[in-house]
Amino acid sequence: MPKINKLALIHAAAKARKSAVASYSNFKVGAALLTKAGHVITGANVESASYGLTCCAERVALFKALTEGKKNFVAVAVVARVKGGAMPCGACRQLLAEYAPEALVFTADSRNLVQIREHSVLELLPGAFTGAALPSRRRAKSGQVSA
Ligand code: THU
Repeated sequence: MPKINKLALIHAAAKARKSAVASYSNFKVGAALLTKAGHVITGANVESASYGLTCCAERVALFKALTEGKKNFVAVAVVARVKGGAMPCGACRQLLAEYAPEALVFTADSRNLVQIREHSVLELLPGAFTGAALPSRRRAKSGQVSA
């Protein structure tokens, strides 16, 4: 387990935020994931003229990480220009609960990177829906098919 350097991870998220493609909202968000092996994977939000297609920074980072074979996330940092730091949206909480359930979530305001708030993923989405609820998973676990 790497020693978690909160400030370094927040700085990585702040740097990633600079690459946000947020021409519609002009609200730039950066995220940085830390793996157990010590890798840092970053992302920023990407917006679309078809607004609903927009992807948050946290999910961009997570999708990058997962498709690069990274797993075992121990922390995620999120930086945006919001007093107290931007909290992950509901959709990102769901994905984090599925793929980074053990992670700590650090948030900071881009204007004050040293004031870091800390939460756990499970605290942000208690009772999360996960693949464990799906019939295919239950079958795989018990070795039997149920209706
Ligand atoms: N956004 C994120 O990147 N992360 C969040 O957790 C909340 C919102 C982005 C999506 C959109 O590009 C902009 O912020 C405004 O909602």
